Amino acid sequence: MPGIIVIGSQWGDEGKGKVVDVFSSQSDYVVRYQGGANAGHTLVVDGKKTVLHLVPSGILHQNAVCVIGAGVVLDIEKLAEEISALQKNGLLKDAKQLLISDSATVLLSYHRELDQAREKSAGLEKIGTTGKGIGPAYEDRASRKAILFGDLFNEDTLKEKLAASLKEKKFLLEKMYKSSPVQIDKVLENALKAAEKLAPFRCRDTSLVVHKALKQNKKILFEGAQGTLLDILHGTYPYVTSSSTLAGSACIGTGVGPGAIDKVIGITKAYTTRVGSGPFPTELGDEIGERLRTVGQEFGATTGRSRRCGWLDLVALRYALRINGITSLALMKLDVLSGFKEIKICTAYELDGQIVKDYPVSPGDLERAKPIYQSLSGWNEDISNIKNVKDLPKNTHDYAQFIGSELATPIDVLSVGPGRDQTLWLKPLF
Ligand code: IMP
Repeated sequence: MPGIIVIGSQWGDEGKGKVVDVFSSQSDYVVRYQGGANAGHTLVVDGKKTVLHLVPSGILHQNAVCVIGAGVVLDIEKLAEEISALQKNGLLKDAKQLLISDSATVLLSYHRELDQAREKSAGLEKIGTTGKGIGPAYEDRASRKAILFGDLFNEDTLKEKLAASLKEKKFLLEKMYKSSPVQIDKVLENALKAAEKLAPFRCRDTSLVVHKALKQNKKILFEGAQGTLLDILHGTYPYVTSSSTLAGSACIGTGVGPGAIDKVIGITKAYTTRVGSGPFPTELGDEIGERLRTVGQEFGATTGRSRRCGWLDLVALRYALRINGITSLALMKLDVLSGFKEIKICTAYELDGQIVKDYPVSPGDLERAKPIYQSLSGWNEDISNIKNVKDLPKNTHDYAQFIGSELATPIDVLSVGPGRDQTLWLKPLF
């Protein structure tokens, strides 16, 4: 089956958007299946920047049909704005380019307000969320109070569900968090306005669309958001997002069986970053971390927050390979490492006097884990204009080689800059 999953193997922001954009030229469908507007993909094409939060990164290719599946929490106001911007820039000309599942969960202003109010009052236990309402929206889904995308097109159902859902939210926001009053009429008005804008993209059953495409042997790319270590079950809980970010989630969030999947590509930054709170064993609080942040422009596409930076962590990556069933890697942002005399890679942790190579899943253990590094020689050359793998400096080669062999996993793609033409292919995609 020609299904390929692209997922983040670290804490998000690995460069999935660029990879999906590049791969989309060879794909028939690009499917988003989890997360919401907490994601931010920055795409650079011909020097022009496009930032996407909800629309799949395949949208810049007219040949690919983009699908938003049932597992996504859909901030309909933000999505309407994103679509307007794409239309204004001539990037979304035909409604057939984007299909939105009737079963996706609708995220509205009160979800955002609740998320932000909770974070504000959390004190030291802050998760450091993006404030985009992701947690409260998934809570609604789990507690069976969610408004679904299809509900937007029946005003009576929408009014009824909104009233039921808002009862509790209004109490929490106004009485517990002392926020400004929730105006149901305004929420309804905004929801209907967004629904009108999104109506042309409505698709009752995107799972059926993807199923039929798979039967016709069409090439399907499943685009993950966030990263492995932010997974609600297997990430660094509680400092995680509220969805499953693992490869398995592509099947669940789309509504296809695992047999549809041929490859799982783990998108991996050549170093590590994390936004928000939580353990991060290889974090660098020194000038090296600062340099990675500045050169790598490590500032969030969604919130503008500066990302915490550190060396590559093979212990965490081994875990990501295992729990996602990653079949190959794309190694991103290698160009950022140019100019370092020495580059370190964490190959194991020291935990309570023991050397461990398996990722400690308990957050308490991870807090105490100290990285054990292998040191590699860096390179001075600017590699961002290199078009051929064989032209890379020997030390860049050795760095990539070391990662591939330590992880016993092939590397399919090396990325040496944000542009499409800064992508070096080691193996064809399909
Ligand atoms: P939430 O998803 O907004 O609830 O945030 C929960 C955690 O996930 C926080 O640490 C966020 O910084 C992190 N997070 C959410 N989305 C992304 C992303 O797209 N990239 C990186 N971190 C993210």
